[in-house]
Amino acid sequence: MKNFLVTGASKGIGFETALALCRQEYRVLALSRDEEGLSRLQTAAEGATGSLDTLCYDLMQPDTASLLEWINRQGGLDVLINNAGLLVNKPFAELTMADWQESFSVNLFGAVSLIQTVMPFLQVTATAHIVNIGSMGGFQGSSKFPGLSAYSASKAALANLTECLAEELKDSGISVNCLALGAVQTEMLATAFPGYQAPVTKADMGSFVAWFATQGGRFFNGKILPVSVSTP
Ligand SMILES: NC(=O)c1ccc[n+]([C@@H]2O[C@H](COP(=O)([O-])OP(=O)(O)OC[C@H]3O[C@@H](n4cnc5c(N)ncnc54)[C@H](OP(=O)(O)O)[C@@H]3O)[C@@H](O)[C@H]2O)c1
Repeated sequence: MKNFLVTGASKGIGFETALALCRQEYRVLALSRDEEGLSRLQTAAEGATGSLDTLCYDLMQPDTASLLEWINRQGGLDVLINNAGLLVNKPFAELTMADWQESFSVNLFGAVSLIQTVMPFLQVTATAHIVNIGSMGGFQGSSKFPGLSAYSASKAALANLTECLAEELKDSGISVNCLALGAVQTEMLATAFPGYQAPVTKADMGSFVAWFATQGGRFFNGKILPVSVSTP
């Protein structure tokens, strides 16, 4: 049985990804800051054939002890899904350095810190896969939208990190990929594009991310893959 770590699992795409994985007999550790959201996930996962544990975890103040304790208890980690994300929607001229720092802390440094923490475990498993959840906003040559510069720049950095890491880790057997998502109906989308109706539900995207996380590492490495049917 494979072990998965999913960030940003209190709601949206991360919630659905964690749920889809534990319904497929995998062992999942789901992270977010929101205890209530995590307990909703626990309720939704009741009766699933896999197992679900949750952990309150702030990517801006990472405390890795409980995380490492879970991984050691489960005998290792196979897949890390860096899904948590933060979107600040403000004109560039109004963005404060705190906005930039928060955007990069969650969207880039949060992933960096987790990857460094779990790398020793991934290095010793045959099917290790790191899936970074990026955005079409951070995909080179895609349509860009006003108000999303801090968010999009941080996602572009995450995409670039994916390519760099895949090269650096290629001899360790760890695949590293980035899914550049298009519009999915979640709270974050409503913040970015109020009133817009996305063509993809969070449940559908969660199922896709879960599938990609389990299988994609065999077919892709170092890839930034657009997963998008619309603009935005
Ligand atoms: N929805 C879209 O259209 C779309 C498009 C492109 C890319 N994406 C990407 O897909 C991912 C999921 O997005 P979503 O739409 O599902 O967003 P969402 O519903 O807003 O969920 C975001 C998740 O990130 C977590 N998070 C934020 N800050 C955190 C922090 N400091 N520490 C720990 N967790 C934190 C939140 O958890 P708590 O607040 O509970 O801690 C929440 O679980 C994000 O990376 C997003 O950028 C989404």
